[in-house]
Amino acid sequence: MEIDVALELNAARKAIRRMSARKLLAERVVVVFDVLRATSCIVTALANGSRAVVPVLTPQEGKCVRQAYGGETLLCGERRGIRIRGFDLSNSPQEFTREVVQGKTLIMTTTNGTRAIRYVLGARCILMGAFLNLSAVCRMVSGVRRLSIVCAGTEGAVSLEDVAGAGALIKYIQTSYRSERLILTDAAHLALITFENHEHQIVDLLRNSTHGRYLAKLGFEADINDCAQVDTADVVPVVDETTGEIRPYVLQPLS
Ligand code: MLT
Repeated sequence: MEIDVALELNAARKAIRRMSARKLLAERVVVVFDVLRATSCIVTALANGSRAVVPVLTPQEGKCVRQAYGGETLLCGERRGIRIRGFDLSNSPQEFTREVVQGKTLIMTTTNGTRAIRYVLGARCILMGAFLNLSAVCRMVSGVRRLSIVCAGTEGAVSLEDVAGAGALIKYIQTSYRSERLILTDAAHLALITFENHEHQIVDLLRNSTHGRYLAKLGFEADINDCAQVDTADVVPVVDETTGEIRPYVLQPLS
């Protein structure tokens, strides 16, 4: 398996442009990581019975999409880490309980995470990764030949927690499929080393990251703990290529 990692969104954008030009994007399986907090939140929402998450770029787009859906929808998201005015929920996994989200379609806009998801539309398959669902994602990508991991980062800068999440997935793949030869790019190596250096201190890594410190300042310490949990959800959110909705996938390996 060949694995590459885009360490932040600008790198992802360049890689996608190159792949699209060479018509390679449509062959790629892509896993997006935004550990604090978009992909952790999406995993939590779908694990708690949400019907689907619809990623949108702006609050305005969110409101239009909601009108088109009608029915059982919730508007969710943040700007600067805080719930958007007029929205039902922010981007705090604590809010996405079964009581709140079950059966609902969540229309979500976040600063970096939902943007990253929209960038990679056109890939063969797009999955959401977080510490919460590492084993589930690992099982699903067994047999994939070319895997791209996209770290959402923070406004064009590298985020330690996303790089560590990417590295954790690589480590899981390495450990689970020992007979598989892994070909890693330098960025993928870097992600792996980052994870290996913090394997037993994931909460500390999240707490000490730039966005972790910012979230703590806003009073979201509990989110940091939630997002640092490993393998608590056996669900893989997958983008449905026809509707653009993110839905929970019934686990079976891609090949
Ligand atoms: C993002 O998409 O930028 C993040 O998820 C932001 C956050 O949740 O604070």
